[in-house]
Amino acid sequence: MTKDLIDILQLSREEIDELIATAGDIIEHPDVYAHKCDGKKLATLFYEPSTRTRLSFESAMIELGGSVIGFSSATDSSVSKGESVADTARTVECFADIIAMRHPKEGAPYVAASNVDIPVVNAGDGGHNHPTQTLTDLLTISREKGRLDQLVVGCCGDLKFGRTVHSLIAAMSRYEGVKFVLISPEELKIPEHVRTEILDKGHIEYEETDSLENAMPNLDVLYMTRVQRERFFNEADYLRLKDTYILTPDKLTYAKYDLSILHPLPRVNEISVEIDKDPRACYFKQVRYGKYIRMALMLKLLGVD
Ligand code: NCD
Repeated sequence: MTKDLIDILQLSREEIDELIATAGDIIEHPDVYAHKCDGKKLATLFYEPSTRTRLSFESAMIELGGSVIGFSSATDSSVSKGESVADTARTVECFADIIAMRHPKEGAPYVAASNVDIPVVNAGDGGHNHPTQTLTDLLTISREKGRLDQLVVGCCGDLKFGRTVHSLIAAMSRYEGVKFVLISPEELKIPEHVRTEILDKGHIEYEETDSLENAMPNLDVLYMTRVQRERFFNEADYLRLKDTYILTPDKLTYAKYDLSILHPLPRVNEISVEIDKDPRACYFKQVRYGKYIRMALMLKLLGVD
């Protein structure tokens, strides 16, 4: 296990399986874990908006008996005075045992990690990676489907800027018999580096389409995503593309009865609220799982038994 978690591929399949098993045990026996991090402090350094990720990290540490410090926007810290990520991280290291960092610039959590001795977890860096969302997604899929292999996984929406999709494809490519159906408009297809470095290199089966309807009947998992407005260079393009896919009950007519619908959230328009009561909708359960897997991850990174 590395000191930090910056990229999901730093974890082996065995380590991921172990985290999923620990999360399962925490769900079953929360009392056993309630004091595991007594006296430990998590610092959440969020330079970009967040609801679920920050609050689930914080709840995770509190439920392990530890406490939390940090900031939820760059304007609330000395960053607004021009402090570097390295200096902020070195300062926070004097107060905390572990850092969770979200930043609009790709690579910022890596810079922080290289400058401190305590573990740093990437809580989302620009359009790049989001490894703890992927751990959340893997726990959700494994609990809903009972496996992480032999699955047809549809990823739909903004596959270009959606960092959660990049990390999910990297992680799931390591399981046997996983096939991806990549559903997006032409302008929002997955980046070349994901295609060549992950899919082509790993000889992973995938197809690309712009039709959610055509893809639907074959899917075991449908991973919906929001069009990432904040990463667009021009608002007109965002407005043109934002409602390309809206999952409505009629689109589920030809879906498998045991399809699992995931979404990292926040949702804007891409899943109609009518879907929320469909038993195949997993996205709020997914939020709950996010806390348990972050508890398991922090125990591991802090070296707590
Ligand atoms: C995602 C993110 O921040 O990348 N949200 C999250 O962490 N659950 C997805 C998004 O913002 O669209």
